[in-house]
Amino acid sequence: MKPMRIGFLLPRYGEPNDSHMPLVMRALSHQGVIVDVIQPLDRAIDLSTVRVEHDLYVLKRTNGLALSIAGALHAQGAAIVNPYPVTVALGDKIIAARILQSAGIPTPATYIVSRPSFLAPLLDEGPLVVKPYQGSGGYGVRVIRTAVDLAAIPATKEPVLAQRYHPPAGRDRKIYSIGGRLFGVKKIFPARTQAEKHGEPFRPAPELCDIAVRCGQAFGIDLYGVDIIESNGTPYVVDICSMPGFKGVPDAASHLALYFHAYAAAERASRGQALLTSVPTETVSKGEVR
Ligand SMILES: Nc1ncnc2c1ncn2[C@@H]1O[C@H](COP(=O)(O)OP(=O)(O)O)[C@@H](O)[C@H]1O
Ligand SMILES: [Mg+2]
Repeated sequence: MKPMRIGFLLPRYGEPNDSHMPLVMRALSHQGVIVDVIQPLDRAIDLSTVRVEHDLYVLKRTNGLALSIAGALHAQGAAIVNPYPVTVALGDKIIAARILQSAGIPTPATYIVSRPSFLAPLLDEGPLVVKPYQGSGGYGVRVIRTAVDLAAIPATKEPVLAQRYHPPAGRDRKIYSIGGRLFGVKKIFPARTQAEKHGEPFRPAPELCDIAVRCGQAFGIDLYGVDIIESNGTPYVVDICSMPGFKGVPDAASHLALYFHAYAAAERASRGQALLTSVPTETVSKGEVR
């Protein structure tokens, strides 16, 4: 049987970097998987060479050129561990929040406006959290308590997403799923030091596990992370991400490698090897998308 092939669409990592992905790729390669890095940033790509040449793709960089290439591969039938349509939905907090609401998952009341000033009447009911609708990593997330806070929001032509602020009791409860296996990590927000970014593993109560599982089901994914805050004894899902950093998850790299390998094998089996027999291997190693 031909070796499994997995393509990774990656950001450019600086040195040193603390991403799990280099370790994951090394582990897969030790397991006999051919691993290709697709980093389309430093040269021209002939778009006609962008074709499905791997059993599975891992979309670690979820914006810019990498996302568009993932879309082009998806349109040609590629298997992507974090599927392109789901990645697009999760990249837009407006879409993601509405899907969570529709699934009956506890989330803060969420509002969208074209200009921050339109949020003013909502402050009568209490503080809000404003977030960039395509944001991540806590960037641009701010608590708004007064009209002065509102006026200080930088001007933008982009839609503004606001949520009711629920004062959190303690740290974020982050729940990560790798192939349906759940891992809880408590992390302070904002995390500044490396230790804070890794947080502290904890065993999530059944209620939090149930919420996390329902989040995955709402998007049809089993690789993800959810940010849950607990406020006055009530959990609220405030964020979901299909390709988090999994920092603080014990042995994350080996769990991820096993999951990707099993996923690729299942794809290979379900396609009856059709993909691999039709693709000349040379194009994978010498192709322009690497
Ligand atoms: N509605 C909210 N009430 C209280 N705290 C919140 C709320 N929404 C977000 N937070 C806090 O802000 C942090 C960052 O917000 P989040 O929605 O996760 O944005 P990002 O996608 O940038 O990570 C969360 O981890 C949580 O600690
Ligand atoms: Mg978050």
